[in-house]
Amino acid sequence: MEDKSKVQERESWGSSFGFIMAAAGSAVGLGNLWKFPYLAGKNGGAVFVVTYLLMVILIGFTMMLGEMIIGRKTQLDPYGAYKKLNKNWGFLGSIGIVTAFLILSYYSVVGGWVIKYIIATLMGGIGVDKAAYFNGFIGAPIEPLIYHGIFMILTVAIVFKGISGGIEKASKIMMPALFIMLIIVAIRSVTLKGASQGLAYYLKPDFSKFNGRVLVDALGQVFFSLSLGMGALITYGSYLKGDEDLEKNALIIPGLDTAVALLAGFAVLPAVFAFGFEPSQGPGLMFVTLPAVFEAMPFGAVFGVIFFILVFFAAITSAISLLEVSTAYCIDQLKWSRNKSVTIVSSIMFVIGIFASLSMGVLSDFNIPILNLGIFDALDFITSNVLMPIGGLLMAIFLGYVWGVDEAIKEVKKSPNVKFKLEKLWIVLIKYVAPVAIFIVLLSSLGFLDR
Ligand code: PHE
Repeated sequence: MEDKSKVQERESWGSSFGFIMAAAGSAVGLGNLWKFPYLAGKNGGAVFVVTYLLMVILIGFTMMLGEMIIGRKTQLDPYGAYKKLNKNWGFLGSIGIVTAFLILSYYSVVGGWVIKYIIATLMGGIGVDKAAYFNGFIGAPIEPLIYHGIFMILTVAIVFKGISGGIEKASKIMMPALFIMLIIVAIRSVTLKGASQGLAYYLKPDFSKFNGRVLVDALGQVFFSLSLGMGALITYGSYLKGDEDLEKNALIIPGLDTAVALLAGFAVLPAVFAFGFEPSQGPGLMFVTLPAVFEAMPFGAVFGVIFFILVFFAAITSAISLLEVSTAYCIDQLKWSRNKSVTIVSSIMFVIGIFASLSMGVLSDFNIPILNLGIFDALDFITSNVLMPIGGLLMAIFLGYVWGVDEAIKEVKKSPNVKFKLEKLWIVLIKYVAPVAIFIVLLSSLGFLDR
C-alpha cells in the first residue's frame, strides 16, 4: 500500500449522499437554469440538447472521474494535488485556483441579481417594461453591489462552517428542495395552453441546424455546468475517504446535473413559446422574458417566487464550491485557519466583483484591450472559454500521459469492494477522445477573439 501520508485531521464528508449532494450542488447552478435554456434557445433547440447529451457522456463523465481521482488520491487542494503527483505540474492547480477565483467574483454579482429578483417578484414590482427594469437595475452604481455583497456574505457564512457542517449540510437541504421546486415549475410550464410548440422545438431535433457553433457552445457548457477544469471536483474529492465508489459518483453527478438542465429547459422554453416570446433571446431570458411569462400565467407570482428561490439555491451551492477551492489552497498550502482563508479570499473576490458589476453601468464604456469586452463579459469569457478548457485539456494530458492511467485506475479500485466497470472505455476517453475534442473547441473559442 502506497501513500499513507495523509494530512492529519483533514475534514471529510459525513456520508456518500452528502458528498453527492454537495458535488451536484456545485454542478447545478446558473449554468443549468440560466445558460442552458438560452443556449438551447439560441442554438436550434433539440439539436443543441442532443449534442450536449453526447458531450456529457463522452467528456463530462471522463473528466469528472479524473478530477475525483486526483482529489481523493492526494487529499489536497488543486495546487498541492498536482504538485504531489508530479513536482512540475503544480502550475495546473494554480490555473484552476485563479479560475475559481475569477468565476466567483462575477458569479456572485449574478447571484445578487437573483436575490433582488426574489424580492422584486414577491413585491410584484418589476413593472411593465421588464428589459428596462433589468437594465436599469444591473446598471445602477450602488444597488447591485449591495446584493452582490449579500450573496457573498451568505456564501461565506456556509463555507465558514466547513465541509460536513457547512457545505454538506446546506447542500443536503437545498438540492432536494431545488429539485422539487423545479419539477413544479416545469409541470406548470408544459401544461400551459400553447406549450406544445415549445416542446417540439425543444425535443424534435432539426439536424440541418447543426453547425460548429452548436458544438463549441455545447462543450463549453459541459465544462461550466459540471464545474470541470478548475479543480472544484479535485477539492471536493479531496475530502472523500478511500472506500467511496468514484465511478458510480462520476455517473450520478453528471446525471443529476443533466436532469436539472433538461428540466430547466422544460420549465422555460414551453412557457416562452406559449406566451409568444423569442427563445433566442439570449442571456436576458431569465431576468427579462421569464418575469413577463410569470406575469402572464395564472398564479404567476407564486411560480415566479418559487422559481427565483430555486435559482438562488442553485447559485449558492455552486458559489460555495468556488470559494472552497481557494480556501482549501490557503488552508493546505499557506496553513491559514479556515476563517482567515475564507475572509481574505472572499474579500478580494468581492472587490473584483464590484468592477464586474460596475461594468454593466458606470464602467460600461471601458473595454479590456485585446478581448474587446467589458469587465463582466471578459471575466466570463476568459474563465469559461479559455481557462476551463485549458485546465481540462491539460488535466486529460496529465492523467493520460504524465501521471498515467495505471495509477489513476489503481486509485479507483483502491477499496477491494469497488469495481471499475468502464475501465477500458475511460482509458480511451481520457487519452484520446477528451483531449482531441477539447483542443478543437479551444481553438474555435479563441477564434472568437477576432470578432
Ligand atoms: N457549475 C456551475 C453552474 O452550472 C458553475 C461552476 C463552475 C461552479 C465551476 C463551480 C465551478 O452554474
